[in-house]
Amino acid sequence: MAARCICNPMWSPPERIRHPLPETRWPTAEEARNALLFQPLCLKSGLVLHSRTWVPAMVPWRASEDGMVTPMVLRWYERFAMGEPGVIVVEATGVRDIPSGPLLRIGDRRFLPGLAELVQTVRQASGGRTRLLIQLIDFLPVRRRPEPAKWFSRFWRPKPYHYERFHQTIPDAPDWKGDDGEFREAVFQGGPEVWKSVLTQREWEELHFGYRERITDTHLPLVRDLPVILPKAFADAASLAQEAGLDGVEIHCAHAYTLAGFLSALNDRTDGYGGEKENRIRLPLEVIEAVRNRVGEKMTVGCRFLGDEFIVGGSTVADAGYFGQRFAEAGVDFVSVSAGGKFEDAKMPKIHEAVYPYTGPSGYACMPTVLSDERGPFGRNVYLAQKIRSAIRDGGWTTPVVTAGGIATFELAEKLLQEQCADLIGSARQSLADPDWFKKVQLGLGYEVRRCKFTNYCEGLDQKHKQVTCQLWDRADKDDPNVDRTSDGRRLVAPAWTRSMSL
Ligand SMILES: Cc1cc2nc3c(=O)[nH]c(=O)nc-3n(C[C@H](O)[C@H](O)[C@H](O)COP(=O)(O)O)c2cc1C
Ligand code: SF4
Repeated sequence: MAARCICNPMWSPPERIRHPLPETRWPTAEEARNALLFQPLCLKSGLVLHSRTWVPAMVPWRASEDGMVTPMVLRWYERFAMGEPGVIVVEATGVRDIPSGPLLRIGDRRFLPGLAELVQTVRQASGGRTRLLIQLIDFLPVRRRPEPAKWFSRFWRPKPYHYERFHQTIPDAPDWKGDDGEFREAVFQGGPEVWKSVLTQREWEELHFGYRERITDTHLPLVRDLPVILPKAFADAASLAQEAGLDGVEIHCAHAYTLAGFLSALNDRTDGYGGEKENRIRLPLEVIEAVRNRVGEKMTVGCRFLGDEFIVGGSTVADAGYFGQRFAEAGVDFVSVSAGGKFEDAKMPKIHEAVYPYTGPSGYACMPTVLSDERGPFGRNVYLAQKIRSAIRDGGWTTPVVTAGGIATFELAEKLLQEQCADLIGSARQSLADPDWFKKVQLGLGYEVRRCKFTNYCEGLDQKHKQVTCQLWDRADKDDPNVDRTSDGRRLVAPAWTRSMSL
């Protein structure tokens, strides 16, 4: 069945220059053998990676509604493991035991058997070569954009200043003393112009983007108490990961989620966890400390954070260099550098849909496509990793740095390692397009790599909370009834690599 068009409403740079995939020369097996990319690396924890190849976290929307590992989750990771990368990071997995749809969770012992099976599956499929980490995440509630009529009648709480503002806008409006209902209806009927003048900025956003909790909502007890709740929640989760047999954890301090919110320059909490960068990094460091105390020195503990938030008023690479140093000082085994992916500049969702943090310029920075500006998508964010690495090295730490963002050829990957821009090469979408790609390169069969188009069909699916697949897979075995497919006919796992054809 042909790949269906998934419209991709992501933002693109206004220049809209279409970049071709770079021409590249693949190495011979001999060249690959000598390449830095395929040399082992030993982390501080003692974990030995057989190569510097890394598959970063990717949510495939395959967990059960209650966050359990399903057979489709196992098949997803099994397929990556068959390509034997140095590391696979399991998708963002929720540390708290709260419902969050088909996203993996690790906030209770009942998740253990599934995660242990996942570990065994990856070990078996990679012949024990691939190390398995899990990305631990916390996020705050985000609701769908409501129907305006419903929002005004059910969710909005009018206050005296709303009445005042309405009377300033429409001086001869009635008094409505004691009749909230009629006032709500009058404002709703007033339409967008009246909404803009009567509502607060936060209410206006809630109406147009849906309710979204922020780490600065300290009037809410659960938000106020995050510094108390999260170190234990992450430590408990890391301990379960250890029990399940995972090699390590990656604390998610990137993109639009709770710990990234604390790191953000927009964090103006006044309780010692916001404001200056020294305060903003306090909770992520307390989380890392709690995790480390719980799992010991031999379990790998790393963190992913942003080299730049790419939003107005957000943290920049100067803050990120400082954060990198503090994480290194705290003794993490690696830092993984990402970019952007924020709610603040996301597109307004349709009514009944939820705002998605990868639809604005910061989303573009996170997962750049070939429709770009002069710089294009390939290795676009490497300079961030490089600057953070330099700051870490200047401070005297040797903590390895992972970079990602449009790295899909051996030539670029090897150059970045040789030039000491990074220590590990993360490749998400190229590994999705072809989970065997690192292995093909290593065997001198790079010309067989199914190359990612970097047009984000997969990301469009993620955005719609649909099972993630790659548009290139669908072309293989179109009529084979034995191939597992989604309900809309898409192939669920990458086709097998028939090596015999080339060896
Ligand atoms: C479908 C999809 C899901 C993703 N899920 C996550 C995630 O769970 N956690 C995370 O840190 N990054 C996530 N990312 C971002 C990737 O890890 C990576 O940083 C980004 O795609 C850029 O790397 P690339 O150019 O090699 O794809 C996701 C990316 C894609 C395409
Ligand atoms: S759908 Fe496939 S080819 Fe397209 S960007 Fe995603 S991984 Fe690459």
